[in-house]
Formats: sequence, C-alpha cells, structure tokens
Amino acid sequence: MESLKDDLLAAAPGRVRFGEPMRLHTSFHIGGPAEIWAEPQEPEQLRALLAVAADAGLTVTMVGGGANLLVRDEGIPGLVVHLSGTGFQYLTPVRRTGTVRRTDLGTDLIAGAALPLEWLIRRAQGAGLSGVEFLAGVPGHVGGAVRMNAGTHDDEGKFHHFGDRVRELKVMNLTGQVKTLPAEAAGFGYRSSTFLSGWIVLEALLRFTPDDAGEIAARVRRLWAFKKRTQDWSAPSVGCIFKNPTSVRRTESTSGTSYRSAGWMVDQAGMKGFRIGGAIVSPRHANFILNDGNARSADVLALVEEARARVLKQFGVELETEVQILPAHPELVKG
Ligand code: EPU
Repeated sequence: MESLKDDLLAAAPGRVRFGEPMRLHTSFHIGGPAEIWAEPQEPEQLRALLAVAADAGLTVTMVGGGANLLVRDEGIPGLVVHLSGTGFQYLTPVRRTGTVRRTDLGTDLIAGAALPLEWLIRRAQGAGLSGVEFLAGVPGHVGGAVRMNAGTHDDEGKFHHFGDRVRELKVMNLTGQVKTLPAEAAGFGYRSSTFLSGWIVLEALLRFTPDDAGEIAARVRRLWAFKKRTQDWSAPSVGCIFKNPTSVRRTESTSGTSYRSAGWMVDQAGMKGFRIGGAIVSPRHANFILNDGNARSADVLALVEEARARVLKQFGVELETEVQILPAHPELVKG
C-alpha cells in the first residue's frame, strides 16, 4: 500500500487524498468516501495516474462537477479522478497563433473538460457568442455536460442539447491513448453519449453563433429566472432525478400542465412533500429530491424506489433515473 501511495503521489504531486468524503464534491452534498481521490492538473498527470491504477488493478471512476451524481453511503472503491486546474479549465480560440483579441475569437472555441459551465456562459456572453445560454443554472463542468448531453427546454418550449454545440472532442482512454473524435462519433442522445463510455473527455471544440452580448445576457437572465420560477433551488439536489420517458413525452396537452413528464407523473402519484429520512420530494417540482441537510444516499434511493413503484402502478411507466448512481453496481460496494 505504501508503494501504491508513493506512486499515486508521484503521478499527481499534492493532488491525491485518501478517504475523501464525496459529499464535498456533489451538488447533493451526499456520499461516502472515495477510497482514493485524485485531482490531476493536466493530461500527463492524468495519464500517469491511470497507469498506476492499471498496474494496481484499481477501478477508475471519473467525477466532473458532481452536479448529477448520487454517491452511495458506502463510498466509491478504487481511484476517483476529478480533472481540475488550468490544464483542464481553459477556453481558447481554435487558432492559437498570435495575439487574439476578444473580438477576434471567431465562432469556434475549445473548452477544457473541467471548465465550469458558469464560466463558459459568462466568457461566451462577453465575447458576443451565443449557444450555451440554456445551461444557465446548471452547476456542472464541460466534461460532464458532454457525457450527459446536458439539455433543457427554454421558456418557449424549444429544446437545446449541449451535444448540438460540440464539433469535436479530444478524449483519452484508460490506457492513456488520446484521440480526436467528430461529434457524430459520440452517439449523443437524450441525456447520453453512448459511444463515449470508456473514454475520458479532455476538451470539446464548441461552435457558437455571433450575437449581441446584451441580447445573450438578457436570454441568460430569462432562462435562469424561468428555472428558478419552475424548479426548486431551496436545498441541495441534483436537478431532475428521473429522465422524462421518451415514449410518453408530450403526448397529452389538453391543459398546459398535463404533458407526461416524469415530474408530472410523480406529482400525480401524490409524492410531493413525501419524505424518507433526510430526503424529500420537492413540494414545488416533483422530479426534484431535496437533501434537508441530513439525507443519506439510502434515503434518496428509497424515495426513488417509492416514486418508481407508484408511477409504474398508476401509469404503467418505468421511470429511469437521470442521476448517475456511484458505484453503478451495488456489488462493487465494499461491505
Ligand atoms: N409538472 C407538474 N408537476 C411537477 C413538475 C412538473 O405538473 O411537480 C409539469 C409542469 O407544469 C410542466 C411539465 O410537468 O407542464 C414539465 O415540467 P418542467 O417544465 O419543469 O420540465 P421537466 O420536463 O420536468 C426538463 C428537464 C430539466 C430542465 C427543464 C427546463 C428532464 C428530465 N428535465 O424538466 O432538466 O431544466 O426541462 O428546461 O429532461 C435536469 O436535467 O436536471 C433538469 C432539471
């Protein structure tokens, strides 16, 4: 174990911790310890960490901004990697030659995987580049937004997906091999990027549309206000806990509120305000589960099962979780 520790610390000096509480790294503020937590600052540190993990037979789990994660109370065995630092947090024009003024940025920018979405929105807005306003209020990073194909509909009902903005991705696999993929090779779908499994996103080449900075700012404000009005931001959560079932999306519209989103069904099933331990179904938006400050992962999972059972009984629909549960397979949980 001592030599493993030494090897990990040599791979990412000062950036490896043991037994790191995952509640510090998730928007839910829930989760047991990561056995080994590493924050590589640039791709070579990442490659070195992966090599140590492969030699030691450690499982590797990637964690981005933690905005869509439910970590089990038992924690995550093996190596948990969180890209951080300027080596992963850049936003640069595609042409790197010469001095580039803000007004010369062009419409394509390369965003590092650990760039917080909030920074991306602000920098794009400042440069008069439109296309990521819909991410307003999403507390994640670029890498996670790619993997999840983060999406939303705006206050006019129009759908936006992060994958639509991606032109190319630079990715690394667990053996340290790096390649560049066109967006089509990611297999973007609703809250998914099927073909990226097994690959770590290092950076994304994003395409924007030039627009007036003031107009962009107004759209960001409007979208943010729309989310604050319709969703529950009063306590830690992961946003929507269930995916909207694609088969029954927008099938009913006799009144404005009757389309069968997951939130609508969980609401109809009488779950608003339902509590298990420290986890509560939001009284405001039934697809939000809130942590009252004392929730355990087990409380949330029990609430998820209760909601799934009720919706199945009432609507015959099997809800699928949108939140990523770690470890994904309970058999990996240490006893
Ligand atoms: N509704 C209810 N009761 C509820 C919740 C919703 O009747 O408790 C009704 C609403 O009135 C509305 C419909 O259900 O008619 C849909 O609700 P909403 O407009 O809030 O959208 P959603 O489908 O629940 C989706 C995304 C959100 C995204 C919003 C806004 C999914 C799973 N959710 O929510 O994404 O922010 O649209 O664009 O696709 C997330 O991914 O974490 C997330 C919050």
